[in-house]
Amino acid sequence: MIRMLWVAALFAVALPCVANEPTTVYEKIAIAADHPAASQAGLEVHRAGGNVVDVAAAVGFALSVVRPESSGLGGGGFMVIWDAEQQRAVTIDYRERAPAAATRDMFLDEDGQPIPELSRQGHLAAAVPHHVAGLCHAVQKYGRLDVKAVIAPAIRLAEEGVVLDAHSAEIRRETLQEFSDDPTLREKFAPFYRLYLNSGETQIAGDRIRSPQAPLLRRIAEQGAKGFYEGPAAEALVAEMKRHNGLIRLDDLKKARPTERDPLEAPFAGGTIITMPPPSSGGVALIETLNILDAYEQVHPELSDELHRVDSITYRHALAEAMKHAFADRATFLGDPDYVEVPTENLVAASYAKTLAAEIDPGKTRPIEEYGRTLPVIDAGTTHFSVIDAGGNAVACTETINLGFGSYVVVPETGLLLNNEMDDFAAKPGLPNAFGLIQSENAAIGPGRRPLSSMTPTIYVRDGKAVLAVGASGGPRIITATTQVFLNAIRFGMSPQAAIDAPRQHHQWLPNKLLLEPPLWKSSGDGLREHGHDVQRASSLAASQLTTREDDGLRAASDPRKGGKPAGE
Ligand code: DON
Repeated sequence: MIRMLWVAALFAVALPCVANEPTTVYEKIAIAADHPAASQAGLEVHRAGGNVVDVAAAVGFALSVVRPESSGLGGGGFMVIWDAEQQRAVTIDYRERAPAAATRDMFLDEDGQPIPELSRQGHLAAAVPHHVAGLCHAVQKYGRLDVKAVIAPAIRLAEEGVVLDAHSAEIRRETLQEFSDDPTLREKFAPFYRLYLNSGETQIAGDRIRSPQAPLLRRIAEQGAKGFYEGPAAEALVAEMKRHNGLIRLDDLKKARPTERDPLEAPFAGGTIITMPPPSSGGVALIETLNILDAYEQVHPELSDELHRVDSITYRHALAEAMKHAFADRATFLGDPDYVEVPTENLVAASYAKTLAAEIDPGKTRPIEEYGRTLPVIDAGTTHFSVIDAGGNAVACTETINLGFGSYVVVPETGLLLNNEMDDFAAKPGLPNAFGLIQSENAAIGPGRRPLSSMTPTIYVRDGKAVLAVGASGGPRIITATTQVFLNAIRFGMSPQAAIDAPRQHHQWLPNKLLLEPPLWKSSGDGLREHGHDVQRASSLAASQLTTREDDGLRAASDPRKGGKPAGE
């Protein structure tokens, strides 16, 4: 229960719509991460001769150290790469996978009801980490440097320590509060309490924090992915699992490999969107939302001007309706495409969007059953970073351990903090997970399956060169934040920082609420209520990082909602 509130609080740390200083224009490389030291780690690797992929991997490893609550070696992610020279897009799926011993009903009680504590905390909640496999693969296949070089800044940060920022200090404070409300947690998660919560001693912004991950990072630097998936580090992880009835075994670790997948592509405003296919639901939902907006304009040409004004109720209502359709379809159809049939092509087809757009009433939202094709049974730890260079190459990468500090399980010998990605499955199809997301049989647990994800790393290419890389963290709000930041930049022509700062809305079909950040609530709340939406004020919706390439140079914007700071030169 506490954990659900916790998710709601995850992005309430910084005030929305408080801009960073004006966007700097860079010549060679622009990096936007959600922690300043992670952006700097990327810049350091660029200066050492790294390309955008090396830079992204350096940021990913550094984040494991500086934002352990959001992502890291014990998690997974998705990376979208645009190679301007080869005119080629690649996506790397390094999502965590269910252990071989996982079963469909492993989180249900005798009455068939979900036990949320099991899928959100502790050893059963952890899926097999793929972070290290993904980043090592990316560097070895698409980078210019070696793993040792890109991991070096992370090792230094772990050894020397980093100054705790306001966001991390707040997450630690909230987690500590949870541990003092329930003292049994201290014993259950003793290594986590000791190594990540300073044994209960309060840590405040400005304190220097050292990471326990330095030896493990050094091992990966020396041996590559093998240093993590085999040998003493892997054995320690499995021993920890066995001590506490967890399911991950050496064989699961040995088999961990990232999967390269063809990206999803869609034309938009003279360019091409390149984004993540399933097992992300993000790319499908982003393209479906944009297609519906486009089709809606075709059905209602008289609304065209209004639909191109970011502050109009007409646009906000249409966007909410498109979000409701996209999330209803997400609930019904999405899952791991290696195990279930996902009708991706149909969902992103323009003709399908046309059918849905024709159903939208310009004056009123519809009852929930009129979205998606089936009615469900009635009964927030991620990071995103974007890199772009002067040659038009780009990486958009989102990594996660799921909820803040993941499962709270730490392997004492290595300091490895494990994800709780198992909660991204439908523990019981039709009932909500920690993000209130309803998912179908397609997203049920099965051995080796990847839990359905909302991560939406996305690149926009024009004339063969990347002009934008974007994505977000924040559960299902990732999808709607990425969609809106993209629209703000490309459709409404906002500067990168303005596109990030602008207030956002969110609708995920169920719960049937239209969330509005405070300025939008003030300006558009009444108008949207008149359209029948159940509007609700939300302090802060997701954290997005954007990089762009324009004629006069490169720009990067980190989201003030989480307190990152870009870097570049
Ligand atoms: O993959 C997903 O959709 C979730 N594990 C993302 C979780 C998330 O963004 C938490 N928020 N900060």
